[in-house]
Amino acid sequence: MNFKEELMSLTLLVDNYLLEYFERLKSEVPETKLIESMHYSMMAGGKRIRPVLVLAVAKMMSAELSEVMPFAAAIEMIHTYSLIHDDLPAMDNDDYRRGKLTNHKVFGEAMAILAGDALLNEAFDLLFKTSAKAGEKMEQSVKASCVIASAAGMDGMIAGQVIDIESEGKQISETTLKTMYRKKTGALIMASIIAPAVFIGLPDDEIKALSEYAGYIGVAFQIKDDILDVEGTSEELGKSVGSDAKNKKTTYVSLYGLDGAKKMLRNVTEKAIEVLNIFGEKAWFLKEIAYFIAERRN
Ligand code: IPE
Ligand code: IPE
Ligand code: MG
Ligand code: MG
Ligand code: MG
Repeated sequence: MNFKEELMSLTLLVDNYLLEYFERLKSEVPETKLIESMHYSMMAGGKRIRPVLVLAVAKMMSAELSEVMPFAAAIEMIHTYSLIHDDLPAMDNDDYRRGKLTNHKVFGEAMAILAGDALLNEAFDLLFKTSAKAGEKMEQSVKASCVIASAAGMDGMIAGQVIDIESEGKQISETTLKTMYRKKTGALIMASIIAPAVFIGLPDDEIKALSEYAGYIGVAFQIKDDILDVEGTSEELGKSVGSDAKNKKTTYVSLYGLDGAKKMLRNVTEKAIEVLNIFGEKAWFLKEIAYFIAERRN
């Protein structure tokens, strides 16, 4: 199977799971504006790169994809909540996301905050229920869930968002910038790779290699996001461009220029691919994902 086909097939698995999940929520919980608002952002058409990474790790290790799907879905719910809140007027104040008006533009700020809160809670509801039913794999399931919880939290994604907001309009050091990227974007990408690895029970040396890989592609993902904010089109991206300049963000592009940022992107992509060598042939898809992240147009 080639990369595009594999990517499409894993994305479809994720999309189908999430669609079924949120359709069920709609039918179980009385039709409210809240569910509608959650459904709107979840089904707006994200790339699903994080849940695809969860499945890709499981597939590489010949584990059962259905067993890791709840981790994949929970991470995508957390990611989607982070985007809804990231777009709010109090944060990046953006009007478009995933090719549609942002959640608060359609449902109002209060409902957008609540939809984000509810998605975060739903993610943990799913993780707890999954762990409770995991039988002899309960301990591994709880450990994988902890990986996700920490990554999303006050020393992970949220900490990164705090640095991002507090750095607006300021000149920040390369160290602070790196910490910001590692946390705001890198943390959930790290969890997408390490949660399934922990659930499957991979040995330490493999977890270490995967975590180095995840560190590199996490930074790469955000460098590319910054480049696209300057070079991309809103049609292709499905979100507003020029948002970083508007908000006076320090990014790799603002610090090193477009060429500098591109060079660093190439550099981290190569490193990401190199650390996967211990897995041999079976790491082909993860290697291709690193190229995909660097070359993506949305
Ligand atoms: C955007 O993430 C926010 C960042 C962390 C850079 P994605 O580019 O994965 O957004 P979707 O999920 O495809 O909409
Ligand atoms: C977002 O970073 C990181 C999150 C945790 C949501 P950005 O603010 O650069 O993401 P976009 O460009 O709005 O998608
Ligand atoms: Mg932001
Ligand atoms: Mg933003
Ligand atoms: Mg951005």
